[in-house]
Amino acid sequence: MRVLVTGGSGYIGSHTLVTLLQERHDVFTVDNFSNSSPETFNRVMRLSNQTFDFEEADVNDADAMSSIFSAFEPEAVIHFAGLKAVGESEEKPLLYYQENLNGTMNLLAQMDKINCRNIVFSSSATVYGIPEFLPYTEDHPLNPINVYGRTKLWSEQIISDWAATDPSKSAMLLRYFNPVGAHDSGQIGEDPSGIPNNLMPFISQVAIGRRPYLNVFGDDFDTKDGTGVRDYIHISDLASGHVKALDYISQHKGVEAVNLGTGEGVSVLEMVHAFETASGQKIDYKIMPRRKGDLAANWADSRKAETLLNWKATKTIHDMCADTWRWQSQNPNGYEPQS
Ligand code: NAD
Ligand code: UD1
Repeated sequence: MRVLVTGGSGYIGSHTLVTLLQERHDVFTVDNFSNSSPETFNRVMRLSNQTFDFEEADVNDADAMSSIFSAFEPEAVIHFAGLKAVGESEEKPLLYYQENLNGTMNLLAQMDKINCRNIVFSSSATVYGIPEFLPYTEDHPLNPINVYGRTKLWSEQIISDWAATDPSKSAMLLRYFNPVGAHDSGQIGEDPSGIPNNLMPFISQVAIGRRPYLNVFGDDFDTKDGTGVRDYIHISDLASGHVKALDYISQHKGVEAVNLGTGEGVSVLEMVHAFETASGQKIDYKIMPRRKGDLAANWADSRKAETLLNWKATKTIHDMCADTWRWQSQNPNGYEPQS
């Protein structure tokens, strides 16, 4: 299928590109490199042993996107591009609404112009908010508790309204849980700029010696060991979920929201110990107060992905830690040239 991928140079986009190319999809990607490096594309091409076209462009730039759509004529779009930092979204709400909502609307308008009817959208488990029950099923109430989460919920609604205008349109809203890990080659992985907000990149920077210790945000939650519990999903499983979603929307019409998670909850301390085992490195940590806005626990009900998409996560916590460590130790400075 001819697939336009927005944000293809980012963490999830780059891993998905490898899988799409391996499955022989014809790919064009657009990225403004605001949170990634063009070097990623060299590595994706080496890993997949295939080339693809890309353009440095902003999804909010209607003229640039219009030329790309008319030239490539995609049959489907996978929309990763957007801003994703929860803390920053609270400080700069208008920027987040501008980037994430306008980007999505502009894409849908361009799709209409060339009669492209299929979209896979990067949503997030953040759309659920404070759990009324766990695991979250897709019909759990949607009450995001931060601006970032609202950009995801409202994008879901915009896409659903767009799809409702024509019964031949089809949209898959993928609600990711906590993506971690790296390609098992160690060639591509997560490369956050500045101090990582998320647990896994922070742990791996402690392991490589870039940070002295991990701050564990709270050990008094009502969880198995008092630390926060999440559903961590290997990035390669997440990537294959996108290819399954593409297959699905090419054969079915309408809108579906689907969780992509493992269905298993893992605590912060369990992850620390798994990383120590996988890397052979000691991870020092200090217990700190809870982080504002953090939930005690959440994990996915992943049965809908299994029935609808015939997709199930296959990688273990050990794989997630071992692959993160391979990427981190082979690329201590991420995609920056090694000093
Ligand atoms: P990322 O920042 O690594 O990738 C996003 C990519 O989009 C980057 O390469 C960035 O340069 C590009 N980009 C941003 N704004 C753009 C614009 N206006 N025009 C063109 N390109 C633009 O993030 P990621 O972790 O790969 O996340 C991808 C998507 O998945 C995002 O929409 C994110 O909100 C969503 N998501 C991520 C997570 C996660 O934990 N990583 C969880 C749930 C949902
Ligand atoms: C966060 C975002 C969520 C986003 C997700 C992307 C918040 C409130 N939520 O989720 O919207 O979709 O990232 O993966 O920011 N932890 C530590 N020390 C650290 C970092 C994290 O103890 O240095 C703990 C947290 O308290 C939490 C767990 O590790 O219990 C996971 O945290 P994180 O990786 O940031 O993910 P989420 O908070 O689940």
